[in-house]
Amino acid sequence: MKVVAFNASPHPQGNTAHALRIVTDVLERNGIETETIHIGGQDIHPCMGCNGCARSRDGRCVLPDDGLNGWIEKIRQADGLLLGTPVHFSGMSGAMKCFLDRMTYVCGNSGGLLRHKVGAAVAAVRRSGGIPAVDGVNHYLTYSEMLLPASNYWNVIHGLRPGEVEGDEEGVQILQVLGENMAWLLKLVDYGRDAVPAPQPVRKKFTNFIR
Ligand SMILES: Cc1cc2nc3c(=O)[nH]c(=O)nc-3n(C[C@H](O)[C@H](O)[C@H](O)COP(=O)(O)O)c2cc1C
Repeated sequence: MKVVAFNASPHPQGNTAHALRIVTDVLERNGIETETIHIGGQDIHPCMGCNGCARSRDGRCVLPDDGLNGWIEKIRQADGLLLGTPVHFSGMSGAMKCFLDRMTYVCGNSGGLLRHKVGAAVAAVRRSGGIPAVDGVNHYLTYSEMLLPASNYWNVIHGLRPGEVEGDEEGVQILQVLGENMAWLLKLVDYGRDAVPAPQPVRKKFTNFIR
């Protein structure tokens, strides 16, 4: 089993990287392979709302490739997805938003590539805004019918200078518990896949509240 993690901080070795490593270390200890991809330093184009992916339905974004299509392929092959963002103005980073808008739309328009994979979000923050940042990322996971493991608090860890989050004793424990629960959920899903058939996807109703 494999989890692919995305670091959407501009700092490759900053607090978001530390937060993700706390979770991936636990996953690895539980026998789950992990790969972490740093997307925060890259020019990720925002979604243009062209609906090209809704027409092609081929798991690819039609914009000139900036790395997104390769990342989608990695997600397609993985069992779980771990998303790490720094808090920027009480929300997720711009890189994470650009990545998630396009990745989630492409995956949703291509037969539900995220459906029933295990997904979790973590945020690194100096002081305030961790909860709205995690909530914002979770909207993409729940929209996609992903399965979300929980921790014993919300998945936020505190620090300013790179690595300072390691001193947030409670935050470290929260992310370790998340890692344990994520590993367990991945194993349950894998174990039960044949024994307990998954619900069939439905044809999505699409109303705009006027008809
Ligand atoms: C543009 C920007 C906006 C930020 N906004 C907030 C904020 O709203 N609340 C907060 O507590 N910290 C804020 N911070 C601080 C970061 O969330 C914090 O330093 C975090 O640890 C950075 O993670 P990183 O090292 O992975 O980049 C902000 C930092 C930047 C660069």
